[in-house]
Amino acid sequence: MKVLISGASGQLAKSFIYELNKRKIEFIAPSKEDFDITSYYKINKFIAPFRPDVIINCASYNDVELAEKNTTQAIDINYKGVKNLVQISQLYNIKLVHFSTDYVFDGMKHSPYVETDSPNPLNLYGKSKLAGENEVMIYSNSLVFRHGWVIGYGKNSFLYKFTKWIQDESVVKVPNDEISVPTFTFDIVKYVLIALDKKLTGLYHLTNSGKASRYELADKYAKLMGFTNEIIPAPMATFKTIVKRPLVIVMSNQKISEALGVSIPNWEDSLKIYCNAIRSNPDLRF
Ligand SMILES: NC(=O)c1ccc[n+]([C@@H]2O[C@H](COP(=O)([O-])OP(=O)(O)OC[C@H]3O[C@@H](n4cnc5c(N)ncnc54)[C@H](OP(=O)(O)O)[C@@H]3O)[C@@H](O)[C@H]2O)c1
Repeated sequence: MKVLISGASGQLAKSFIYELNKRKIEFIAPSKEDFDITSYYKINKFIAPFRPDVIINCASYNDVELAEKNTTQAIDINYKGVKNLVQISQLYNIKLVHFSTDYVFDGMKHSPYVETDSPNPLNLYGKSKLAGENEVMIYSNSLVFRHGWVIGYGKNSFLYKFTKWIQDESVVKVPNDEISVPTFTFDIVKYVLIALDKKLTGLYHLTNSGKASRYELADKYAKLMGFTNEIIPAPMATFKTIVKRPLVIVMSNQKISEALGVSIPNWEDSLKIYCNAIRSNPDLRF
């Protein structure tokens, strides 16, 4: 299997690169400058000679706040760029793996969201990601995975940012009414690679099991890492934001678990693995 990974410096891409290296799977992971998904010309320059069997699209515009202002950029990356990848995958018959978000939903459902639930994004980020996944779904040789909070290694991770906050402040406020499923990149990679082996296609919710508030995640992480700062639970309404956000979104991972015949670990178990990894290899933090 030959793989091309886009968005190479992002947190999910980093975990794919690590795992593909470990498994000695042939891949290329060009930089954003070289493989800008908004440029059909640039992506063709890589795809035509390399001819991957699979494109794993980790490129995305993920700044939910800024997307409200940088509308064109968010749509260019999350919709038009994705459309370019669909067109080129169709042309060369390449399998396309794409990632989306629980923000395609409005959070009004009182039980876990399943793949057949109707999306209703509340903000520009969610709308642009929905438009992108709809494009991918037109192409039959594709896989779309929706996640909750993606937690990986490097500066884009919420836990990296949280670590910075608690290094600067002794008391940190974290929302306790924003609830989702923390989902670790090493788990995403593991199950995506099994899905590719099994030649799965279609739309799946891929999250760790369980659910957590942002506060619970931060508090558990701080305790595991031995930080002694005071972490204060606070309602989301007390934070400055220009974006309408769904407060509670939990997705069910039942469809993907059954399709792969696996039991996906609870986020707390994966958090322990994550903390052990960054404790034993501090380079992973950056
Ligand atoms: N992070 C979350 O909590 C979360 C939640 C739900 C779903 N997801 C989804 O999971 C997937 C992976 O997310 P992630 O957290 O790994 O994202 P990430 O760390 O923000 O990585 C996205 C990467 O895409 C790059 N990129 C931006 N524009 C590009 C372009 N035009 N061409 C090529 N690359 C471009 C970014 O580069 P720059 O940083 O230099 O712009 C960044 O390296 C995304 O589809 C995301 O929507 C993430």
